[in-house]
Amino acid sequence: MLRVGVMVSGGGTNLQAILDAIDGGSITNASVQVVISNNPGAYALERAKSHGIEAVCLSPKSFPDRAAFNKALLEKVNEYQLDLIVLAGFLVTIPPEMIKEYRGRIINIHPSLIPSFCGVGYYGLKVHEAALARGVKITGATVHYVDEGVDSGPILLQKAVEVKEGDTPEVLQRRVMEEAEWKILPEAINRIANGERSGS
Ligand code: GAR
Repeated sequence: MLRVGVMVSGGGTNLQAILDAIDGGSITNASVQVVISNNPGAYALERAKSHGIEAVCLSPKSFPDRAAFNKALLEKVNEYQLDLIVLAGFLVTIPPEMIKEYRGRIINIHPSLIPSFCGVGYYGLKVHEAALARGVKITGATVHYVDEGVDSGPILLQKAVEVKEGDTPEVLQRRVMEEAEWKILPEAINRIANGERSGS
């Protein structure tokens, strides 16, 4: 049984997709042990609690400096003896010590077809604003392993989504979630839980 930790900063719709996939049987051999957020107001924490999953908040603001936060985050993660860490809309840079310790065991969902619209400054709605500004006709989402760079690790899964006439960033964001993110993130976890490993 793959022990999964999910890290979140916001609404947690990707977390919900993971929980639904486990409940519905499209992810097998995996269980979510903990949900960790940097943001005390993250609705994702409520989703975890109402599912009976431990929900932990570690805010960088409660620590004297980034090094202290990074240390506490790694210690917290280590408590759960996780096989896989899933970044599901986690908008904090993963400490290098954690990447080193969990190399090949951290995956991230990004709301574009990497290498387009990714890297520093591209997160959440900003990704879709940039895609619309460039006028692309196809966008999508990517699940990739996390390395020391920003959105630079090996790609595990991608799914394309059509951009439609008149799309706003919000409309496009929702379509990318529904048609791509909520499908490929659970699929990636299921693949890893059932034997696929790479990216280290
Ligand atoms: C998702 O669209 C995810 O791809 C994005 O944040 C959103 C979180 O939504 N992540 C990034 O932009 C990471 N660079 P959610 O909290 O509803 O799952």
